[in-house]
Amino acid sequence: MSPAATTPEGHTGSLPNGSPKRVGESLAILGCGIMGTAILLGVLSAQASHTKSDGANLLPSRFRACVRRPESADSISSQLPPQALGSTVTLHTSNNVSVVQEADMVLLACQPHLVKPILEEPGMAAALEGKLIMSVLAGVTSEEIENHLQIAASHDEGAYDVGNRRFSVIRVMPNIASAKKKGKVSYTTYLIFTALQTLAAPIALLLTPPEKVQRADGSKVIIKAEATFKGELKALWKASTRRDILLLLPIFWAAYFNQYSGNFQTS
Ligand SMILES: NC(=O)c1ccc[n+]([C@@H]2O[C@H](COP(=O)([O-])OP(=O)(O)OC[C@H]3O[C@@H](n4cnc5c(N)ncnc54)[C@H](OP(=O)(O)O)[C@@H]3O)[C@@H](O)[C@H]2O)c1
Repeated sequence: MSPAATTPEGHTGSLPNGSPKRVGESLAILGCGIMGTAILLGVLSAQASHTKSDGANLLPSRFRACVRRPESADSISSQLPPQALGSTVTLHTSNNVSVVQEADMVLLACQPHLVKPILEEPGMAAALEGKLIMSVLAGVTSEEIENHLQIAASHDEGAYDVGNRRFSVIRVMPNIASAKKKGKVSYTTYLIFTALQTLAAPIALLLTPPEKVQRADGSKVIIKAEATFKGELKALWKASTRRDILLLLPIFWAAYFNQYSGNFQTS
């Protein structure tokens, strides 16, 4: 079966395997700061590259970005592709509840300490009920989010009973490289590992000197020092081409390319 093309918002398409799937849904981003904007830009870029291919489009096609201050809205609009503003992305500095009411899915990306007032705003629980809620909030569990919503639902006078509403919350933990559809190690992690690596040299000085090393059977380690630099290089080459040393090459390769220095700011 041929995959569905992008259909207008909320319409039903089909997956390549034939199963029905809603496509073109709208996403409200509650707290579109650094992280929210990074995700927004990443999805927009994925959308743009997707239209060139012919696969089922499961990405949201409309975005409602919520912030508090007009300056934050200006900052988002300055980062968006010009054609996206207004048609694909709308910016909101108030009325979170009505924005969420009109969305099919919600991304929670505010600061963690603001999740309570945002979710417990009157009408928010009702607006979120039955919708997919994705959270990128560090340190806030999906249970906590659901609890806020159950409490909010009970506060929405008489509209709800406590604790029996249906909220679908999932947690995801991306980072700002999402804007370029990449993953990265943060610079702080990189600095910590660099510091540990730098410490290796002074720590090595504390090790027992080779001439004092003694094997379990009492024999000494033989140190062969070549008389000249050329001699040292020759001996190094000879040792490097030994079969048992060559077998270590995959380990060196993996250690170099699979560690933080290989993935700093890269995919
Ligand atoms: N940055 C990262 O790399 C990263 C990685 C993983 C997870 N996270 C998580 O992502 C979340 C956001 O982090 P961030 O770095 O993107 O923070 P941020 O830049 O401060 O963004 C938070 C956004 O929330 C908005 N906001 C605050 N109150 C609001 C309200 N009542 N209604 C609507 N919007 C509101 C703020 O708008 P104003 O600017 O107008 O106040 C701001 O745009 C955090 O929970 C963090 O744990 C971040």
